[in-house]
Amino acid sequence: MTNMTRIAILGATGYGGGELLRFFLRTPDVEIVHATSRGRAGVSVGKVHCNLEGLTDLTFSDPSREQLLESTDVIFGALPHGASAENLAPLVDAGATVIDLSGDFRLRDIEQYKKWYGREHPRPDLLETAVYGCPELNRDRIAGARLVASPGCFATAINIALLPAAKRGLLKGTAEVLAITGSSGSGAEAKPGTHHPTRAQTVRPYKVLSHQHVPECVQLCHDAGGADLGAISFTPLSGPYVRGILAVATVDVIGGVNTVDVETAYSEFYANAPFVKVLSGREPEVAGVAGTNYAEVRARVTPEGRLHVICALDNLVKGGAGQAVQCFNLVTGRAETACGLDWPGMWP
Ligand SMILES: NC(=O)c1ccc[n+]([C@@H]2O[C@H](COP(=O)([O-])OP(=O)(O)OC[C@H]3O[C@@H](n4cnc5c(N)ncnc54)[C@H](OP(=O)(O)O)[C@@H]3O)[C@@H](O)[C@H]2O)c1
Repeated sequence: MTNMTRIAILGATGYGGGELLRFFLRTPDVEIVHATSRGRAGVSVGKVHCNLEGLTDLTFSDPSREQLLESTDVIFGALPHGASAENLAPLVDAGATVIDLSGDFRLRDIEQYKKWYGREHPRPDLLETAVYGCPELNRDRIAGARLVASPGCFATAINIALLPAAKRGLLKGTAEVLAITGSSGSGAEAKPGTHHPTRAQTVRPYKVLSHQHVPECVQLCHDAGGADLGAISFTPLSGPYVRGILAVATVDVIGGVNTVDVETAYSEFYANAPFVKVLSGREPEVAGVAGTNYAEVRARVTPEGRLHVICALDNLVKGGAGQAVQCFNLVTGRAETACGLDWPGMWP
């Protein structure tokens, strides 16, 4: 790759696409060649993403597949699942380097995809070649990937909560996870269940025990060595705020493990992970990470001998576009923290 990297963002009018624009517009050695939209070609980016108004002359476009292939080095997919595989697979076939924010290429087992996404996978042949974009486990593989399946919001919170224990072989049985997300997790289009008046004054469970992010977390924990993790029993909650996820995971661990052991295991596992902060003196919380690519995690062992982990992150950044930028940095040989990813958040 040359020093200047030319990119396209497919689905750039959405929330994930908007976050990609936010990071890349201020990165001098990345050129955004296409920010695509099916219906708003020619419209100024700042007219849709008001935080970017006046910062760029870029307009949305609707390029052909050939134009995308000719003019870019890396293509980001920020499209709904289903549409993502359909749009990205021909680009991968043609040799493009692709980073996908959707869930379409995260599961290797097509039966699992059918079960959890309720549809046949259009291109199961690509599932084996896709690299799951969790830098904390797959850093080296991401660097050599042509198709990165960048994990999203709930999945990243659960992965960060469970991976170090999985890697040490500490987990056994079923993990119970409760996680609350802000409304931006549902994307830019208002729907009856996500519309502000219906969720602003409540905390609502949804997709209880059926959320499609669960199997990729089990898959990743098994990849990390946690073969004795049987399943994840997951209750997602929608919360009355915009950004952020707070996840609490509890799971049985092998006997004799105490809080000092797991704090050590988590600190060691994340020692070279620039965006994961392992806490011991306070609890993770959304306000400290909102708008940033940082995640906070705290692990301990309950008096009953169960592992108890809390993780906080921003669903649109470490749990979305920021994670994809982190993967992009690895793919293109940049520092993992490049493209503005290491900016701290706000407090309070
Ligand atoms: N929101 C989050 O917190 C989050 C976190 C991690 C991962 N993700 C994943 O990232 C992807 C994008 O999420 P998002 O929240 O950014 O969604 P979004 O706000 O709904 O944006 C998706 C964009 O894709 C375009 N689009 C919609 N349907 C399409 C279709 N059938 N074919 C082609 N383009 C289509 C739309 O743009 P036009 O109408 O202008 O073409 C839309 O603005 C999803 O797969 C999501 O699961 C989201």
